[in-house]
Amino acid sequence: MNFAVLASGHGGNLQAIIDAVKAGKIKAQLKAVISDKKDAYALKRAQQAGIAALHINPKDFPDRESFDRCVVERLQGFGVDFVVLAGYMRLVSIYFIQQYPHRILNIHPSLLPAFKGMHAIRDAFEHGVKVTGPTVHFVVEAADDGPIILQEAVAIAPEDSLESLEEKVHQAEHRIFPQAIDLFVRGKLKIEGRRVIITG
Ligand code: GRF
Repeated sequence: MNFAVLASGHGGNLQAIIDAVKAGKIKAQLKAVISDKKDAYALKRAQQAGIAALHINPKDFPDRESFDRCVVERLQGFGVDFVVLAGYMRLVSIYFIQQYPHRILNIHPSLLPAFKGMHAIRDAFEHGVKVTGPTVHFVVEAADDGPIILQEAVAIAPEDSLESLEEKVHQAEHRIFPQAIDLFVRGKLKIEGRRVIITG
């Protein structure tokens, strides 16, 4: 299987995925990394790993769907079978989702459905929850929704700061995202309504 990663920022998750592919822990080809941000460090990580790195500027398009049509065209050019959103800070259009039904995976840094939105780690910390952690899920039309593949609980200790919690959540992300992609690639995920059954 071929896949691409869409990323907008630092690319910590992307790096974990690149490393897992290189180590043979994900048996699929990472064909391209696409970013909506020109200066995304994720693009540098892709280049350093010898993976095609593309910037597509949303400002060059009149609306979300025409931007997504361009992204999908490029993905098709790379022969991509599925798509991974790794810190991709844009909502994808229905058009995009329809091209890859249940073949787009996203990571979110809270235990969904708690703390949807852009500041999930901070929101969880400020809310005072004792446990948070990342979620990998299939992408559906509604943001931060969709059948949940994997979650990892991260305990919030009394001595944790927002920064130390962010670090713990990111480390957990880097564990479960490659695992979830591997399960997907090996055909181990069966979707039943909202539930994802992980088969033996
Ligand atoms: C991660 O916390 C991810 O859950 C969220 O954005 C952040 C991206 O970090 N969607 P990175 O670019 O992978 O380092």
